[in-house]
Formats: sequence, C-alpha cells, structure tokens
Amino acid sequence: MDTSADLRVLLASQYPLLLVATREEQRFLGLLRRAASGLGLPVWVWSAASGLARDGGDPMYGTTDARRALQFVADLRDPGVFVFTDAHHPLRDPVTLRAVKDAAQRAERGQTLLLTSPAATVPPELESLAVPWTLRPPERSELAAMVRRAVEDLAATRTPVRLSASDEAAITGALAGLTMADAERLLQRAVVRDGGLGPDDVAYLRAEKAEMLNTDGVLEIVERHPGGLDGVGGLDGLKAWLRTRGEALRSGRAEAMGLDAPRGVLLTGVPGCGKSLAAKALAADWHRPLVLLDPGRLYGRYVGESEDRLGAALGAVEAMRPAVLWIDEIEKGFAAGGDGDGGVSRRLLGTFLRWLQERPDGVFVVATANDVASLPPEFLRKGRFDEVFFVDLPDEAARRSIFGAHLSGRGHDPGGFDLDKLAAISDGFSGAEIEAAVVGALYRAFGAGRDLTTEELAAETEATVPLSVSRAEDVARLRTWAATRAVRA
Ligand SMILES: Nc1ncnc2c1ncn2[C@@H]1O[C@H](COP(=O)(O)OP(=O)(O)O)[C@@H](O)[C@H]1O
Ligand SMILES: [Mg+2]
Repeated sequence: MDTSADLRVLLASQYPLLLVATREEQRFLGLLRRAASGLGLPVWVWSAASGLARDGGDPMYGTTDARRALQFVADLRDPGVFVFTDAHHPLRDPVTLRAVKDAAQRAERGQTLLLTSPAATVPPELESLAVPWTLRPPERSELAAMVRRAVEDLAATRTPVRLSASDEAAITGALAGLTMADAERLLQRAVVRDGGLGPDDVAYLRAEKAEMLNTDGVLEIVERHPGGLDGVGGLDGLKAWLRTRGEALRSGRAEAMGLDAPRGVLLTGVPGCGKSLAAKALAADWHRPLVLLDPGRLYGRYVGESEDRLGAALGAVEAMRPAVLWIDEIEKGFAAGGDGDGGVSRRLLGTFLRWLQERPDGVFVVATANDVASLPPEFLRKGRFDEVFFVDLPDEAARRSIFGAHLSGRGHDPGGFDLDKLAAISDGFSGAEIEAAVVGALYRAFGAGRDLTTEELAAETEATVPLSVSRAEDVARLRTWAATRAVRA
C-alpha cells in the first residue's frame, strides 16, 4: 500500500489520537491533506509559533498555547483532523499531556488529533490511546513523479535533457532512500553541475546520495567484491545456500512455489576467514547495492536521538530495496554498553530486533560477528535470520582455491604454481593469512628482482605463525560454541 492510501485508511478508522514520526513535515502535511480531502475532512494545523488555523484560514486568537488550542478543538465539536506539529515540546508539560489524554478520550466522532515529532516515542501515559505511525521515505512512485515533473520543467526552460525511460528510472533509483526535499535538492544540483540531465548523472547522484546518507555516518554504500561469490575460496555450504536463494529471487519462481523471500544470515566464526568478504561478494552476485550500517555511529548526545537515527537509517535502507544490508561485527554495536548507558543500547537493540522481525521483503541482511559469546542471545532466536553460519578455518581444498584466487587477483596465473603443496603446508591458516603470505612473497620476489615462484610462497607461508596456533584456545572456544548452534558455512 502506498503512503497516502495508508494514511487514508488510518484516518477513516477514526482513531482519536495518532502519533506521527516524521522529519519531513511539509511532505507529510501534503500527503495528509490529500488523504483528508478524500474523506471530506478539513485539516487544522497548530504550531507553537502561530497557533491553530484551519487550512487556508487565519490562526484562532490565543491558541499558541497548546492547552488552549486543545480546548478550542473540544469546543468546536466539528469533525476534522487536528495536527499539532512538533508536539514533543508541549507534551513535556504534564498538564498539556493530561489535556491531550482527556481530549483523546472524549474526542467527538470524526475528530482526530494528530501529533507530529521527529521521533516515534509515545509517552507511557498515552500508550493505550495513541496509534504510532512513521512516515516512510518517499516511495518509488512518489520519487518517479517528482523526477518526471523536474524533467518536464527542464524541457520547458529548454535545458538539455537526454534521458530514455530507463535512464529516468535509474535516476529515480539513485535518489531512493532520501527524503523528498533532499532528493529534489540533489537533482537540482546535478542539473546545475553540467547544465543538463543525462545518463551520466546517475553515477553522480549515487555517489552524492551515499555521501548524504553518510552525513551522520550511520549508513554507507560500500564497494562490492567484483569477483562475486566465485572469488571466495571454500565456504561451499554458504555459497550454495546463497546461490539457490539468489536464483530464486531472480526467477521469481520461488514465490510461485510458495517460498518466502530470503531475509538474512548471521555469519560467525574465526576472524579473517571471509565473513566480510562473503557480504561484499553476495551483493555483487545479486546485483544489489551493499549498504553498511555502523551501529557504533548511532549513539547521539541527546535523549532519543540514537533511536531516531536508527529509525531513519532503517527507513532509508527500506527505500533502497532491493538491497543487501550489511552489519559488520554486530556484537560491537548493539547492546555493547549493556545497561550502563541509561538503557540506550538496550533500546536500540530492541528496535533493531523488532525491525528484523517485521521488515519488508527486499532487504537481505548479512550480519557478521567475531565474538559470538558477547552477542545478545536474542539474535539467535528463530525469525531473526534464516540461518546462522559458522565460518571455520579453510580446509585443504579451500586453501588451495584461496591461494588461487589471490594469485589470479594479482595478475599471476595460478596454473604456474604448486597449489597442492601450498595448501598442504598452510594448515591452520585463515584466508586473510593466506592473502598476507601471497603479498609477502610478492615483496620477497620483487626485492630479489625475481619472478614470483612457489618457493617464495612456501617460504613466506612457513615463516607465518597463524592465529589458530598463537590463539588456539580462542579458536577452540569459537568452534565449541558453533558445534551446536550454527551450520557450517
Ligand atoms: N574464504 C576466503 N576466500 C578468499 N579470500 C579470503 C577468504 N577469507 C579471507 N580472505 C581474505 O582475507 C581478507 C579478510 O577477510 P574478511 O572477510 O575480512 O574476514 P572476516 O571473517 O574477519 O570478516 C579478505 O578481504 C580476503 O582478501
Ligand atoms: Mg570482518
């Protein structure tokens, strides 16, 4: 259902009190006016600066005081939608809070009080009365309409526009995830930059969007692994699992067979064995943008700010659908502070888990964790991830292919090396350690002015003490944990 239809249903249901979280007040009011006029309801808007006014009319005298405005609504008795903007401020006053509660309890049929604020926090006093609602970032269709209008405006002013229908769709896609105002501004910037709009602007828009989403650092669009899943050595179970799901998504046949869309995986395991790599490779294989969420950046200075940011970030990710959401080292971000931070990290964890459970199809989540012991157990409950995989040290065959992948990745034909020997002498190595041995050997060869040979690679390998030896107990602990709780990747 689109946003304005959603709002219309909400108004038609005649809830007396709606709490709306939005950072896009103007867009929200536009959608609301449309929904209300479809139902024949007038819209009144209150702000602390100008008081309460019927759309198109003058403010009612003396109503900048929220309590008097509420009294005015009660006396009016006419049906309508009464919007109190930035209501989180007046609601801090207990008397106003009480007045809202009273008003909601004895609201006339057809009167809806609607309180907006940037975050979706419901005061406990209103919990049983209020219906919370969050304005999502614009839908594709809203953005597409905005882009269409912009293109028409440009054409009218004889600005050069070279866009096919699919270019226009690509531009819309590149703006997805932004608020409407930001999307419009960014599109204008692209026009000003080179005096027109063309297919080459898509890359610019994407890059700028990444930057804008990154302003508070919570989300980042990251490079995918160009080799795709083929560039990951070993992890055959995980790769097969992902390939089957990728195939199902592409063909659309899975849905016809009654299969649910894949939702996400949690990758745990020995550091340096390809968890992060798998996330980057998967996004490339599925041709989806890879969006990294850094929970560490959520923590704000003000009460409620962190939850607010998380909500905005998750909304932005939803608007980028289809996308892969990657959360690296999830154990460090959520609930990291335990109860020692006024409960902020607990609340963030709660919000995130709820979203994991309820998120719409089209966002595939890849979460990685090195230290499973410190992971809140809630993550492992059914319904959060489709599967929990344990990424173990590569076996001999996997080590062989990891050597091969890193040699060919650096322009050396793997056929020219004795990969069997290298795989045999690198028992206990992680993928990262194999990569480091390849790089080290390249330096050795370069320093000696020789071509890279198996001997250099072997010497470098033999000079390395892998983590699995130097920290044998930690690795053993991870494996014990995984034996009963995870599937081998
Ligand atoms: N299975 C693998 N196949 C190929 N390269 C690997 C593999 N595992 C690790 N590597 C190399 O080591 C680097 C670090 O691995 P990473 O995926 O970050 O490990 P982690 O499991 O700690 O997230 C990768 O970028 C990659 O170059
Ligand atoms: Mg990693």
